[in-house]
Amino acid sequence: TVSRTAGVVAAAALVAGTGLAAQPGSADVVPHLHEAGVAAGVGEPTKRFTLVAGTTATGWAFNGQVPGPELTATVGDVLEVTLRNTDIERGVTLHWHGYDVPNSQDGVPGITQAPVLPGAEFVYRFRADQAGTYWYHTHAVSDVGVRKGLYGVLVVRTVPVTGVDVTIPVHTLGGRTLPEPRTERIAAGQPVRLRLVNTDNTTHRYALTGTPFLVAAIDGSDLAGPAPLTGTAVLIPAGGRYDLVFTAPATPVALLVDGRAIWSTGAVTTATGKWPVLDPLGYGRPAPVPWSRHDREFTLVLDRGLDLKGLLPRYAHTVNGAADPDTGVQVARLGETVKFTVVNRSTVVHPWHLHGHHVLVLSRNGQPATGSPLWLDSFDVRPGEVWEVAFVAGNPGMWANHCHNLPHVEAGMTLHLMVR
Ligand code: C2O
Ligand code: CU
Repeated sequence: TVSRTAGVVAAAALVAGTGLAAQPGSADVVPHLHEAGVAAGVGEPTKRFTLVAGTTATGWAFNGQVPGPELTATVGDVLEVTLRNTDIERGVTLHWHGYDVPNSQDGVPGITQAPVLPGAEFVYRFRADQAGTYWYHTHAVSDVGVRKGLYGVLVVRTVPVTGVDVTIPVHTLGGRTLPEPRTERIAAGQPVRLRLVNTDNTTHRYALTGTPFLVAAIDGSDLAGPAPLTGTAVLIPAGGRYDLVFTAPATPVALLVDGRAIWSTGAVTTATGKWPVLDPLGYGRPAPVPWSRHDREFTLVLDRGLDLKGLLPRYAHTVNGAADPDTGVQVARLGETVKFTVVNRSTVVHPWHLHGHHVLVLSRNGQPATGSPLWLDSFDVRPGEVWEVAFVAGNPGMWANHCHNLPHVEAGMTLHLMVR
């Protein structure tokens, strides 16, 4: 097994080799970087799981349940997950959303593997070297597969659970929003961590009533110096995760999603309609940005256009004027610092998601990010917005880079990043 410390040292070494200043004392904001070739020798599995994909009455399920089983691990574990497909004709894969796994384990059909067809299986193996809240989902015909239920949560912890640790993936299935509301009695004084996962195609608004709370982590990365919030809502983009922590008061607490209480510790009636929304770009303790320069720069202009290439003309969601499969491949050398700018010229939100890497938010609409460094894997680019983000191309391979409103992927909004 490999400890968290070893991972951080490896990351610092890679940072030092690329002209970036490693920041002393900022281990909580060290980016998720990878030693090359980790796929080859990850060692004996310490955690084994089997996921069986199959059809159910209302959709598709892993092990007969929606969401699929919650996979949990401790940092340093080697996860081995066997995926078996019983009867899903179009095939299934497992993509570890937000987990920067070696490329061969990333689960993207046509890029990293063939889809697992009925009767076949595929074994995923990777080391859990990032703590935090993540999720997994099929990446084969993903707009259909995820919506029908082929998703679940992956939680990696550094230490055994102390206090109450609850995971809530929100999902819309057959016009209903899951999960069903539930109440959990919690003794006053208990520390509570709510891990919120948005598995839907669109943004949800979350509000926690009855207690001050901290946003402790976003997309699996801890925030530095988060301040207590009350009367504040958070917007979680498609694919994104927020970890909220608080100490259970003697009076009830409730989590509302789009105004509906889905989790509570008792009956609560607080109205949240007018609550302001947290801007994560200004939340937490700032730290100097570790980039002294960038080696390469890309711009992605998101728009909508008429695609005349198929049998029938269609309206496509486009990147730089093209729709998949004509969006192309952007290439970066291993270890380079890459800045990319995402411009949304369309009239709808595009939740952007890069595989295999976490991006550091530099600015939005020309306003620099001023809070705790934000390392995201999913971020909403709203109509008219311009986001500047940067990352270290530290994970070799061919990676998907796409909008996580999954029907938009089918309508063309995906491209590739090659790191070599
Ligand atoms: Cu969660 Cu390429 O996706
Ligand atoms: Cu989109």
